[in-house]
Amino acid sequence: MANTFTYIIHHFIFSSLILLCAFHESSSNSLSSLRYDYYNQTCPNIEKIIYDVVFQKLSETPNVAAGALRIFFHDCFVEGCDASVLIASNATNQAEREAEINLSLPGDGYDVFFRAKRALELHCPGVVSCADVMAIVTRDLTNRVGGPYWQVQKGRKDGLISNRARVEGNLPRPTHTVTEMIHLFQSKGLTTRDLVALSGAHSIGFTHCTAIMGRIYYNGTYDIDPTMNATYARDLRTSCPMNNTAPEIVVFNDVTTPKWFDNAYYGNLKRGYGLLSSDQNLYLDDRTKWIVESMINDESAFFDAFASAMEKLGTVGVKTGRDGEVRLQCDFVNGSN
Ligand code: HEM
Ligand SMILES: *[C@@H]1O[C@H](CO)[C@@H](O)[C@H](O)[C@H]1NC(C)=O
Ligand SMILES: *[C@@H]1O[C@H](CO)[C@@H](O)[C@H](O)[C@H]1NC(C)=O
Ligand SMILES: *[C@@H]1O[C@H](CO)[C@@H](O)[C@H](O)[C@H]1NC(C)=O
Ligand SMILES: *[C@@H]1O[C@H](CO)[C@@H](O)[C@H](O)[C@H]1NC(C)=O
Ligand SMILES: *[C@@H]1O[C@H](CO)[C@@H](O)[C@H](O)[C@H]1NC(C)=O
Ligand SMILES: *[C@@H]1O[C@H](CO)[C@@H](O)[C@H](O)[C@H]1NC(C)=O
Repeated sequence: MANTFTYIIHHFIFSSLILLCAFHESSSNSLSSLRYDYYNQTCPNIEKIIYDVVFQKLSETPNVAAGALRIFFHDCFVEGCDASVLIASNATNQAEREAEINLSLPGDGYDVFFRAKRALELHCPGVVSCADVMAIVTRDLTNRVGGPYWQVQKGRKDGLISNRARVEGNLPRPTHTVTEMIHLFQSKGLTTRDLVALSGAHSIGFTHCTAIMGRIYYNGTYDIDPTMNATYARDLRTSCPMNNTAPEIVVFNDVTTPKWFDNAYYGNLKRGYGLLSSDQNLYLDDRTKWIVESMINDESAFFDAFASAMEKLGTVGVKTGRDGEVRLQCDFVNGSN
């Protein structure tokens, strides 16, 4: 039995600079406007250029995949997949990122997107959107840490709006019920199967103790959330002591194979090793339990479902044409820096 491990995440500090924000109505996505060969003429080596950056970044920071995957998910659920999550705040605009700070998105995840974009600017300046960079980087990282591979459609434009106030209500919370999660995912065009498959992203990465204190010290006492395996809960208490948990302490999402993208996450749920209530609930609800069972029994079924759900996730709220722009720098709307 793997034990729990404690890590301290170092967050990058981003400088706040000027952000010019033009107001546009964003059109809803159209799958058909994205194309696999979108950059064939204008940036034929796009995939290779991005892959090289990903490979390099992973060798420096093996944990980067989880952070980037989570950032991509949050980008797509807030304003659509338009790289709005990468925009920096300025004196008068609190960007999406500010809400993310409370959700603890780690800086290396941002850095890999910025680096890939900078590499592309050297080869095909002003051509590739940050939103497309995010989709390809995320695919490559997931695949490099053991996950499936899928083809990425391209042609997304970058958004002009990034507003902290628009985050609330668009992201799932660890305390959400299955019904709440199904409805949220449905509102983004994703099915219950997509929800279960995408939750498998918690096969990698970390969670801060603060998110699980209410489970391992149930009701603020030494009780344990009855839906959590007591052995697991007691292990977690080693990393997350009752009254002196530093806010930067994190624990593995998937204690079985913490750094490898596989279907062990689903096996964990079956024995009460879901870290978040939102994870564990997927095994406690009849609408999702049978899907979890199918993922436990067949990793390739999980990989197929995950890849297909990631392709769908990558089309949520996509902007095309004049609804967006190709940003020159991923953290600034053009003309604001
Ligand atoms: C379904 C509802 C979901 C909920 C309630 C949820 C919630 C959370 C929470 C609370 C954390 C820990 C954050 C922290 O303490 O730093 C986390 C981490 C993470 N989430 Fe989710 N999440 C959900 C779905 C997803 C999806 C769909 C993806 C991607 C496809 C995803 C990818 C990740 C990853 C990779 C991490 C680890 C991040 C890191 O190590 O930096 N999550 N999630
Ligand atoms: C910051 O961004 C807002 C909108 O996002 C924009 O209206 C404002 O001009 C920017 N602030 C400065 C100081 O330029
Ligand atoms: C675009 O490039 C990909 C990869 O090189 C290739 O498979 C595809 O056939 C190309 N499409 C066109 C229209 O040239
Ligand atoms: C973020 O955390 C800070 C400090 O804990 C708190 O004051 C603020 O209200 C939180 N913001 C959001 C959006 O949750
Ligand atoms: C813990 O709190 C929940 C509601 O928050 C309540 O239903 C439950 O009875 C409490 N359990 C214990 C052991 O106090
Ligand atoms: C934690 O704090 C609570 C409230 O102050 C107290 O009742 C409890 O005994 C403390 N637990 C530990 C382990 O110090
Ligand atoms: C709790 O986890 C242990 C392994 O650590 C396992 O043997 C046991 O069956 C689990 N209990 C439940 C109720 O699933």
